This record gives sequence, C-alpha cells and structure tokens, in this order.
Amino acid sequence: MTVDLCIEGLGKTFIKGKEAFTAVRGVSLHVAAGELVTFLGPSGCGKTTILRMVAGFETPSEGSITVGGRDVTTLPVHMRGIGFVFQNYALFPHMSIFENVAYGLRAAKTDETEITRRVAEALELVGLRKVESRFPNQLSGGEQQRVALARVLVLQPKLLLMDEPLSNLDAKLRLHMRTEIRRIQQHLEITCLYVTHDQKEALTLSDRVMVVNKGRVEQIGTPFDLYAAPKSLFVADFIGQANILPARIVALSGDKAEIDLLGKPFSFRFVPGSGPERAGNGSVVLRPENIVLTPHGSGRLDATVRHRFFVGDHMEYDVSLADGQVIAAFVPYSPGMALFEPGQRVHLDFSDNAPVVLFQEKAGV
Ligand SMILES: Nc1ncnc2c1ncn2[C@@H]1O[C@H](COP(=O)(O)OP(=O)(O)OP(=O)(O)O)[C@@H](O)[C@H]1O
Ligand SMILES: [Mg+2]
Repeated sequence: MTVDLCIEGLGKTFIKGKEAFTAVRGVSLHVAAGELVTFLGPSGCGKTTILRMVAGFETPSEGSITVGGRDVTTLPVHMRGIGFVFQNYALFPHMSIFENVAYGLRAAKTDETEITRRVAEALELVGLRKVESRFPNQLSGGEQQRVALARVLVLQPKLLLMDEPLSNLDAKLRLHMRTEIRRIQQHLEITCLYVTHDQKEALTLSDRVMVVNKGRVEQIGTPFDLYAAPKSLFVADFIGQANILPARIVALSGDKAEIDLLGKPFSFRFVPGSGPERAGNGSVVLRPENIVLTPHGSGRLDATVRHRFFVGDHMEYDVSLADGQVIAAFVPYSPGMALFEPGQRVHLDFSDNAPVVLFQEKAGV
C-alpha cells in the first residue's frame, strides 16, 4: 500500500495583476515509501505552498510530482489518493464523532457494514473507540485532533500530508500527540510529509528533515546530520541552539583548524564536509553544551555572567565575552553543583577535541 514520492524542480510563482512573487523555487526531494519527512523553516518560507502543490490544491509553475511512480502534477485533488490534515481541523459540530469519521466514506458511497468496520478501526487506531456517539464540543482539543486524523486515515490514503497539525494544542499535549502521530504513521507504514516551524517537533518526529528558507531547500538530512553537520549558517542557527562567533582561520591541515577567537589561539577539529577551504575570516559554530565555564584560572577566554536559568536537567547561562557579544552555555545539573551569579567574572573554554562547525562565510552575510 505504501508509495514513494518524488518532487523534481518544483516551483511556484503567484501572480497578482502585474506583480509576480516566487514563493517556491527548485525544490527536489525523494521520500521513500513509509518515510516521514518534515518541512522546517521560518514563517512565509513556502512550506504550506509546497504541501498544497503535492495535494493538488495549487498548480506548480514548474517541476513535477510523482507518487508511486505515477505523475500526478496536473491530476485533480480527489484522484491523488492523498490525505491532508490542516492546522484548523474543523470537525462538523452537528455530527457525532462516528459520522465525522464516516463522512468521506459516505461521500464515496461505501457500503454501510464496511463503513461501520472502517470507522471503528480508525477510531481504535487513534485511541478513541469509546467516544463515537459524542459530539465534537464534548471532546478535548487533543481528542478532536485525533478525530481529525481518524477522518483522514479512514480513507486509507497512500500519502499523508500534515500542516502544523498540533499548533492549536498546549505544550504537553503537543508532546503526547507527536509521539502518537509517529506511532500511527509507523504502524501503518504510511509515507508522510509533515510541516512545522517547531524544530524540536521536527527533530523528534522525523526520519529526515528538509530545512526551507525563502522558498528554497537549505538542506535535507536526518535530524542528527542537521545538528552535527549543518551545511550553512542558516541551518546551524535554525537547528538546535548555536553560538555563532566571528573567527579568524589562521591555518588548516586535514580536519584541524588553528583559529583566532578574540585574540586567543584555539585548535579545533571540524566536522568533515563543513570545513572552510582556506585561511581567512569566517565563523565558528559552538553549541552551548560544548562550552565549559570555570570560576577562575583555567579557561582561555574571560566572560561575565549575565543571566542564569534553571531548566530542569541543566543550567543555562548567558555570558558576555570581552567584545560584548553574548553567548549561551549549558551546564548539566548535578547535586551540589557550583553556581555562578549574574555579574560574576568567569573563564570560558572549549574542548579542543569536540568537533565544531566552521564556515568561510561570516554571520550576517
Ligand atoms: N495565494 C497566494 N497568493 C500570493 N502569495 C501567496 C499565496 N499563498 C502564499 N503566498 C505567499 O507565499 C509565501 C509562502 O507562503 P506559505 O504559506 O507557503 O508559507 P509557510 O512557510 O507555510 O509559512 P507559515 O509557517 O507562516 O505557515 C508567503 O510569502 C505568502 O505570502
Ligand atoms: Mg504554513
């Protein structure tokens, strides 16, 4: 039942009167059967537009879309066998949950015993078997979202598209529902495209993530690849937390770089493939968890603590460096750990062995 999806050179230009606006350009992506790929990117970068073209609600200006080997680029929505869950999943308020889920099957003139069986199956799948006679306003937000999912799954789509399906839910429910969505998606082995601008959601839910910026693909990779080996400053900044510091690359040899940071020498190993090709000005990406703070003595850079936040499993510090730039440092929680106070002078260091991401380009360019 599962199919793969192939997007080739997809582009969309909206034309209003004399004005043309290109929202999506040159997007190519292959999604394997049963894979879940998330589109992640800032507001307005084109995520929904790509999804709407795959669903058939929008006609591409260029490129092609193939589902299971069949070119669907110009096929009408109802002939694509694609399920779509929107951000606003409005259920029919005057219909019972059973009837809400049965709606698409009735429209397709499905036989009554078949409807009963498939609705029961779909509600079972989303863990809502007992509520079928209730009405939408008698369910919680999370339960309503599950009904919205059941309403799509009951039609046994070959491909499932979800556009920010959890954005109306509170933080705790989002966490729970994303685990549920992943469970159901893997259980059905259904190919899925999922849109979010929540990077944690993207990292935890996906086989692969496609980072989109201004209508173009920045990078496609597994969550781990994107975090450990971002190919651009945009991705480094967008995935996880990153301190991006201007650095002078003094010398390069193999995967080692001699770097000048605020006038102090550092020797870093850099992530293969991310490295710059020549000495000169650039940027170094330092993850907050790789920064070591010490009260005095051993660190190579001077810093002043600005803020301290306790976030459960670790302590987050904002510290300012000699040139005034503020960076984040995470210290894992341990009982009796030394605490630094705002205003306190500290020393800061990095392990020379922790691989870093290094770019020839400079931040802000
Ligand atoms: N029908 C349309 N006509 C003209 N411009 C449009 C149309 N639909 C979308 N756009 C523009 O295309 C760009 C991409 O929009 P899109 O909805 O795909 O962004 P998005 O990444 O889904 O953003 P968000 O995270 O806010 O949902 C935006 O600048 C938007 O204003
Ligand atoms: Mg959108």
